[in-house]
Amino acid sequence: MSTPAYPITEHTYDAVVVGAGGAGLRAAVGMVEAGLKVACVTKVYPTRSHTVAAQGGINAALGNMNQDDWRYHMYDTVKGSDWLGDQDAIEYMTKNAPASVIELEHYGVPFSRTPEGKIYQRAFGGQSVEFGKSQAYRTCAAADRTGHVILHTLYQQALKNKVQFFSEFFALDLLMDDEGACRGIMAMRIADGTIHRFRSQLTCLATGGYGRVYFSATSAHTCTGDGNAMVLRAGLPLQDLEFVQFHPSGIYGAGCLITEGARGEGGYLTNAEGERFMERYAPSAKDLASRDVVSRAMTIEINEGRGCGPDKGYIELHLEHLDPKLLQERLPGISETARVFAGVDVTKQPIPVVPTCHYNMGGIPTNWQTEVVTRKGDDANHPVPGLMAVGEAACTSVHGANRLGGNSLIDLVVFGRAAAHRAAELITPGAAHKPLPKDNADLALSRLDRMRHASGSQPTGQVRLNMQRTMQRHASVFRDGPILEDGCAKISEVAASLADIRIEDRSMVWNSDLVEALELENLMLQAVATIESARFRTESRGAHAREDYPERDDENWLKHSIVWMDGQYRATIGDRPVHLNTLSNEVEPVKLAKRVY
Ligand code: FUM
Repeated sequence: MSTPAYPITEHTYDAVVVGAGGAGLRAAVGMVEAGLKVACVTKVYPTRSHTVAAQGGINAALGNMNQDDWRYHMYDTVKGSDWLGDQDAIEYMTKNAPASVIELEHYGVPFSRTPEGKIYQRAFGGQSVEFGKSQAYRTCAAADRTGHVILHTLYQQALKNKVQFFSEFFALDLLMDDEGACRGIMAMRIADGTIHRFRSQLTCLATGGYGRVYFSATSAHTCTGDGNAMVLRAGLPLQDLEFVQFHPSGIYGAGCLITEGARGEGGYLTNAEGERFMERYAPSAKDLASRDVVSRAMTIEINEGRGCGPDKGYIELHLEHLDPKLLQERLPGISETARVFAGVDVTKQPIPVVPTCHYNMGGIPTNWQTEVVTRKGDDANHPVPGLMAVGEAACTSVHGANRLGGNSLIDLVVFGRAAAHRAAELITPGAAHKPLPKDNADLALSRLDRMRHASGSQPTGQVRLNMQRTMQRHASVFRDGPILEDGCAKISEVAASLADIRIEDRSMVWNSDLVEALELENLMLQAVATIESARFRTESRGAHAREDYPERDDENWLKHSIVWMDGQYRATIGDRPVHLNTLSNEVEPVKLAKRVY
């Protein structure tokens, strides 16, 4: 194959971070602090990264409101993960969480405060003190705009540290060498369509999740899992894709997030009969049970005809009993969102909500030091030289089968920092770059060229909608064998229709039609991989609830799924062991148990 003739602008760095959300920025700042020359390549302007949308807070056992301990945080996270999380990584995250939050405070994050001036912490779902005894208050918050302030603060730190930004550059593919090492990326500058080759000793993917595979999602339009798809096209696998989190409170019809912090501050859910139904499903934690539990309960209520509204299609979230001053101080953002997107005054009326796709627990498999691992022979932990992943793109795996609210922001900063530490150990600033294989740019450029000249009969938006509706219908809160079978067949037809898409605009200047087509290809790989992984796992665990296999099956399924995709959208699925060991002797592994709230 010959490389299509696009002039290429060359760049050389010690490290390239792809993505400028919380994880990417934290990694980039730490890498520069370690003396590395770092480029941050991002398809949106950094402060538009999706971390900006995180509302309720960031978990760390600071103990500002009541007693707390990182071991309780670890216990809750393992239990929340339905024992699929890697316990070495969970220990690392929970132990390092307090220092990471204090570091954010020192960077300048304006956290809300207690009357004594400490960082304010609220209750979130699935959190306890003393290993399940009572509710914890562990989620450090800046009102309901925590992600926003963290993102802006980290961006300021990145500018101060002179991270070199390439904003509105769309990463096309990884540069892999013949020994299976990653040597950088190819990217396209969206503004003018110029092509850029970034050579690096180390590439850190921080490209976020792929929530837009679903029709109703709290994720931004740009959450298309571009790094995950680059990994798949490089012949590497993704892990645990069947585990997709549905947040209990997306606004009905609009999908916008209403933070779990709303329930943490005293909000509650009712069905059409006005019943606080969570008391039946989770007698102890009630509305603050783990997200998967609450989303399933809501779905059952709606499916059994107890939904609210003319179509019995939603559940009501009540905040009108709370002090308006509290709403103003602690939940100003969602009060506005509810007014704009649901026409609701939260001081007077309940908010109509439904479970909405919110987070991908699965992603690029890494060890706790954020190196991408793959399965080579029997070695489940073989790192891919030169490649790291952090944030929602990664499956480290600290969330296992279900993530706890507030654990995603802490994942970003703890593992962003870990990536920088590991990079400092692995690479020497300014070291010479090995020569690249001759055909290194072919994969990226031939794909770009094919898409650019796509002249079929279907608009990108139509194929995208077909994909989203198929996933929403066939791989949602509840799954079932025949529905998944049917979904696998349908999604494979939709994937085949990508060959028939039409790009209206042939220009290379700010061609959003082309970018959306490239994103759609990325999404499609992950849609197929997700539904195939869901069909593969014949048990129920965390967010993966199968009606035909309603029980967790540790004997056969206490393992991660691993999926590879070929160029024809065919999946090959295998597995890797879960790490049931801890990193240190400061804590015992959390023993398998039934998961009740
Ligand atoms: O509900 C929320 O504020 C979302 C938090 C999270 O997903 O961690």
